[in-house]
Amino acid sequence: MTFLFNSDAKRGAVFSQAFASALPDIPFRMDAATVDPDAVRYLLTWTTPADLARYRNLDILFSIGAGVDQLDLAAIPRHVKVVRMVEDGIVRMMQEYVLLAALALHRNLPAYLDRQRQGLWSPLPQMQAQDRRIGILGLGMLAEAVLERLKPFGFPLAGWSRSPRAMEGVICHHGAAGLATMLAQTDILVCLLPLTAETRGFLDAALFAKLPHGAALIHVGRGPQLDQAALLAALDSGHIAAAMIDVTDPEPLPADHPLWRHPKIILTPHIASVTQPESAARAVIDNIRLHLSGRDPIGLIDRSRGY
Ligand code: GLV
Repeated sequence: MTFLFNSDAKRGAVFSQAFASALPDIPFRMDAATVDPDAVRYLLTWTTPADLARYRNLDILFSIGAGVDQLDLAAIPRHVKVVRMVEDGIVRMMQEYVLLAALALHRNLPAYLDRQRQGLWSPLPQMQAQDRRIGILGLGMLAEAVLERLKPFGFPLAGWSRSPRAMEGVICHHGAAGLATMLAQTDILVCLLPLTAETRGFLDAALFAKLPHGAALIHVGRGPQLDQAALLAALDSGHIAAAMIDVTDPEPLPADHPLWRHPKIILTPHIASVTQPESAARAVIDNIRLHLSGRDPIGLIDRSRGY
């Protein structure tokens, strides 16, 4: 029974140490070329290796990241469990980033950065937190953690998911009708959806039109969910006041892309949340223990939903 680590050596060193002390009976390997493919029961990777079929006894494929959209799910045999990364580092960093972005947009930071560049000392009217409604698209584990962090500031909070959810202190909407209702009452929209066939192009002109005039966007999902031309048009018309964007399509974004220099956009290079090797190793070890005791790992994805 072998664990094959298919990611960078620096993270691998951290994982290797953690495995040696927590799971000494499971050999930890980082070199696919020398491993006995029949012994590999666990594989940690970012993308689907082209030679996946050689691991005939694979039980679990772990994604090194929170998303699984980069994996070719159709190429992974049905009996292999696919598990996304659920670990404290990713959660904490996402909380930090969305809090940063929500406060930046709430306090009109993009406009003030623009004014600073122009040498303009020019205060704007400031809306108060209890009047600034924040709505999150996607009510998964990350959204739930982010909403907890936002609560002390007093923003009215809402969230939308495909199926009904309940969360204390958060107005939960679901389904197509719920989406329109939430959008109409959202001043800062946060996209934390997984990338699937249904969410590709989700943030489009029709969706923006359902937001109140002057709403803002925080995009921390995946680049292909955003119709970039629609966002630029909505920013230029003033319908959307500002946006903070961490994910783009493509990544990296070409140097001459209009998103870079738009005065109403703050752009970061997909750094909102990054897997932290120490806590990720603990999460994977815990998941292997769950698996060995016959239980489902945390973060097990539903193939039919794609996340
Ligand atoms: C980052 O985007 C991840 O999937 O962890």
